[in-house]
Amino acid sequence: MKLLWMTDLHLMSGGEKHRSGVDPAVRLRVCLDDMLAEHADAARLIITGDLIQLRHTAAYGMLAEALAEVPIPVRLLVGNHDDREALARAFPALQLSNGFVQNAEQLNGYQLIYLDTLADNSMHSGQLSAERLAWLETTLGESQGPALLFMHHPPATVGIPALDKARLNDGDIELARILQRHRHRQPYLLCGHLHRNVSGVWKGTPFTVMTAPYIGFALRMQEQKLVAVDENPGYGVILCNEEGVVIHTNSLRKRVDTLETLSAR
Ligand SMILES: [Fe+2]
Repeated sequence: MKLLWMTDLHLMSGGEKHRSGVDPAVRLRVCLDDMLAEHADAARLIITGDLIQLRHTAAYGMLAEALAEVPIPVRLLVGNHDDREALARAFPALQLSNGFVQNAEQLNGYQLIYLDTLADNSMHSGQLSAERLAWLETTLGESQGPALLFMHHPPATVGIPALDKARLNDGDIELARILQRHRHRQPYLLCGHLHRNVSGVWKGTPFTVMTAPYIGFALRMQEQKLVAVDENPGYGVILCNEEGVVIHTNSLRKRVDTLETLSAR
């Protein structure tokens, strides 16, 4: 089974661009074009949050238009820049669980779990409240086979101070306990939020954070502030079978540069 994975699109209303000149809509377009040319056989396209830039809720309409042309079933998650109600208005088919953008499905022997880590207090750091954790515990208990848990905020500290402050730091201890109780399900965490490609093991559970199509964050371990850089945009291709999980990061720099030069004319 092949899954496509994007994260942190940060689309802006009215075609606005990042101050560096990077155009998030162009970045999305380039990634989608490449996906459809190379991976139209994928079973799902999963987008792990920060679909829009904070308060640019009109950009959900742009996303809905772009995704209407994608023949692959899409699963959307929320991040700290997202707005659940505006998202649900733009995507009426969005599956909610008690108002949270959480759901799960069984596919080719794998359970795909989509978690909502948007904090109730509008902080940029992530949260899994007791209600959401209880849903996860029940959901893991109801199924069998390996579990892929998609969520915006990674719970791990990665050594970059500005990003570590904004990790999933509310509900993380209980999340680790739940994953421990369901160790036989071979849970794997797939996150966004860092705008970098990072992999590791968190309290016994493997995790990967995918790069963003949009602006990246620099590997600054001495700096307290977040440093934005024009990293290679890209998306993930996940292969899952009876042997396990393989995750590719597909980088598209050259094509993006060409398109942005054209769109600036
Ligand atoms: Fe984020």
